[in-house]
Amino acid sequence: MRITILFGGVSRERLVAVASTQALAGALPEADLWYWTAEGPVHAASREVLLNHQQPFEVTLPAEGEPLSETIEGALDLAAREGRLLVLGMHGGPAEDGTLAALCEARGVAFTGSGAAASRLAFDKAATKVVVAEGGVATPASIPVESGADVRSGKLAEELARHGRLVAKPVREGSSYGLIFVNGSADLEALAEAADREPYLVEPFVAGLESTCGVLENTDGTLIALPPVEIHPAEGAFDYASKYLSAETREICPATFPDDVQAKIKDGALKAHKAVGAMGYSRSDFIVTPSGPVFLEINTLPGLTQASLYPKALKAQGISFRDFLDIQIALAAA
Ligand code: DAL
Ligand code: MG
Repeated sequence: MRITILFGGVSRERLVAVASTQALAGALPEADLWYWTAEGPVHAASREVLLNHQQPFEVTLPAEGEPLSETIEGALDLAAREGRLLVLGMHGGPAEDGTLAALCEARGVAFTGSGAAASRLAFDKAATKVVVAEGGVATPASIPVESGADVRSGKLAEELARHGRLVAKPVREGSSYGLIFVNGSADLEALAEAADREPYLVEPFVAGLESTCGVLENTDGTLIALPPVEIHPAEGAFDYASKYLSAETREICPATFPDDVQAKIKDGALKAHKAVGAMGYSRSDFIVTPSGPVFLEINTLPGLTQASLYPKALKAQGISFRDFLDIQIALAAA
């Protein structure tokens, strides 16, 4: 099988995806590179151009030459004909919500990571919280906010009065895009506007340190929880800037939480991975409160950039990035 890194994609997280792919391409020198551009066409990409691309989190990678295909569907047809195995260098949108996986599955194209059903479920933060809570993992209660919702009265206003601070997030988004901290009525207005564009969910603000925990599937199907990461954001919130652009954010791995807290985080990450039916790898995010960790979300295509948390956890576990990729490729080919 010809290993091909399919990267970029049309989601808001496409810049992060290019940065992840710089790491993937560095570790897989034998792989071909296919760039799914924001406009839709898929191009063969030059390794040199990709690896030399500066400021990937802020500047779009240029596409070169004629496209391999005008559409992702056409590119996947080509991948099927050429017997390619796709390593996914993408986050969010159709790459992470199950759409791409379904297109690959329909064509018999092998790809790394979770299948369509698990991806679809995991990318819906509200639905995920339901199945993860059923699996016995603590997670903050959430309220859906759809377009046209009256955010000034009713349940949301009551919640704001009760908790003093709420967090609103798009139901289907990553890298903290669209995150709104709701401290008062002006923020509720902003939420109403944002929810007109895409569905949101609102949770009480949970005070504590953010932590994240990767899960890795071995080639024999057994799962391991990687050492949790402890996150100290630069300016209070672990948002897009703090995740990718700030040198001040400190991410400590292995985390320094007491052993029983680390065990609960790992247990929660394993349960979340199983609850959504994830495959290959995933990363679950938590807030560690004085009464224990609470689950926020699971990512089936977690960031793999040099600034990302999953690679840090692999390193702390003593697993090289190349070995991790060989496992994912073997699972995808099986
Ligand atoms: N959604 C980003 C890429 C992450 O979870 O790492
Ligand atoms: Mg996410």
